[in-house]
This record gives sequence, structure tokens and C-alpha cells, in this order.
Amino acid sequence: MERELALEVVRVTELAALSAARWMGRGDKNEADGAATSAMRAMFDSVSIQGTVVIGEGEMDEAPMLYIGESVGNGQGPEVDVAVDPLEGTELVAKGLHNALAVVAIAGKGNLLHAPDMYMEKLAVGPALAGKLSLNDPLEMTLTKAAAILGKPLSNLTVSILDRERHRTHIQTLRDTGVRIKLLSDGDVAGAMAPAMAESGIDLYVGSGGAPEGVLAAAALRCLGGELQGRLMASEPSEWNRCLDMGIQDPRKLLTMEDMIGTEDVIFAATGITPGEILGGVRYLADQQAETHSIVMRAKTRTIRFIRSLHYLPNKTQLH
Ligand code: FBP
Repeated sequence: MERELALEVVRVTELAALSAARWMGRGDKNEADGAATSAMRAMFDSVSIQGTVVIGEGEMDEAPMLYIGESVGNGQGPEVDVAVDPLEGTELVAKGLHNALAVVAIAGKGNLLHAPDMYMEKLAVGPALAGKLSLNDPLEMTLTKAAAILGKPLSNLTVSILDRERHRTHIQTLRDTGVRIKLLSDGDVAGAMAPAMAESGIDLYVGSGGAPEGVLAAAALRCLGGELQGRLMASEPSEWNRCLDMGIQDPRKLLTMEDMIGTEDVIFAATGITPGEILGGVRYLADQQAETHSIVMRAKTRTIRFIRSLHYLPNKTQLH
């Protein structure tokens, strides 16, 4: 993929974020998601790729746009797999909470895991712990190993996890070991990326979240030198068959970075919708301007760009 593509892709996440941000705090996550999705879909028309959505808004019969299998791009560039989450953290936008993102990952055709829409157990770490821990180990052992590798006591280790009833045992284990815990209300793409961003202060991300979000976070971590290990959590026969249909031979397999992102030729872009630890949110300024904060990265070169853009929005309704 051409390196210029990275800058084209960030326009896509910027427009999705600008569109979703208008719905901040208005209590309507579907409107916010719809605005982000249609803006992202429209902007893809100008991107020089022959893309196929492999992670998107759902199956063709459930989602009007950015559905799995949909072609995106202007048809003139490389053949690529596209993973999107126009609004990662619908509830976060609806309530005006931190860490909602618009996210895209692009890789050469056949290189992104077609993760089915189900839960995935995850362990995400930054470069210092990459390759040194295993999702197969009990959580307590993982924490002890991580603290030893990082050369700090368990009480100085910070772990983040979604605040969910299904994580009750994990949260109790975390509390029993004495680590610091950051409970997230939503948004586990940002959550899983955080350990690879030094300024976040987070050492590990654990627990289960969406499998599609897991692949998106794995793409980001591939660019950041971190690691995400995952395991799909097919809880009923239909989900199990779904995995098989999507080409995942052993649904209980521990998924490595290579299983999820089969190439170094991957681009990841995200724009903040609401403010978060990694990116600022959309801000509306004087003179019909709006500011966005994005991150765009290529795994091949490990270039990480933070882009602050000022957008001129003469017509407020144009984003809807
Ligand atoms: P949406 O943007 O689809 O609302 O997802 C938000 C999210 O928090 C994801 O980041 C996470 O992977 C998933 O929901 C967790 O699912 P659940 O809310 O069922 O625990």
C-alpha cells in the first residue's frame, strides 16, 4: 500500500467523528452511529483503494452501509481488506462520556481476520510486555509476571477492564492482588490500545469485549509494537457455526497477532469523537471551525502521526 494512503484514510475517520460528535450527550446512540456511518461511507468514495469491508456494521441484511462484503474506495488502488467502526462507543457519545472513536484499519487483501460479531477474551500489552505473557495463564500469574518484567510491585501495576458483571471474577482477582484498576464503561479499542501508549499509565488490558473491536485494536497494536492475544467466545452452536463459516477452523484457538493481522502492511487511523486518554475529542470553535485529533499509523515503518486538524464548516447541516 502507498504511504499516502494513510493520510487519505484519516480524512475518513475525521469526517465520521465530526458527524457523530454533533450527537454528543443527546441520548440517541443510533442517530450518532448512523451519522458516523453515512459520513464514513461517503468519504470512502474518494480513497484510492479497491476495498472490501471485512469488519463493519453487520451483515448485508442488517446494515444499510459498510456491511460485511461491501466494496469501498474509488476502485483505483490496491486490493485491500477494510475494518471499520465508524462509532466505537455508541453509548459514550450518547452520554457525552470519554473515549469514543471513529476507527479504520486497512491491510492487504486476505490479511485481516473476519472476526464474527461475538465476544472475544483479550489480553493487550505494550512493547515492554509484548511476546512475554500468555492468555492461557491464569490472570494472577499474568499480573505477577508482568510486574516482575516491568520491575515494579503489583501495587504499581495498572490494569484496565470493561466494567461488566461478566468480569466479576476477574475484577475480584485484580482487587485481591492489589493492582490499580481502571474500569471502563465502554470502548475497548481505546482500552486495548492504552497499554502501548506510554502516557496512558495503563500496563495491561484484560477481559472480554467485541471480537471485531479486538481485530481493530490488534491492528493498532501491530503499529505500536504492542500485542493483543484473543480467544473467541462462541457461547452457542449458532455462534460456533458462524466462526466455521467465516473460515475460523478452531473457534477456541488462542488468536495471535499474526492470526488477526497477517501482514506488516497495515494502516490504522482513529479520530477522537469525545475526549480520551489517547486523543482529544471534536471541539467546535468560533468562526464555524471544528477541531479534530487523530492518530494514523503504519506498521511497516512504525510511523505514528498525531494530526490536529481545523475544519471549516460553513453549513452546519452538511455533516448529517
Ligand atoms: P458499541 O460502539 O458497539 O456500542 O460498542 C462499545 C463497546 O464497549 C466496545 O468497545 C466493546 O468491545 C463492547 O461494547 C463490549 O460489549 P458489551 O457492552 O456487551 O460488554
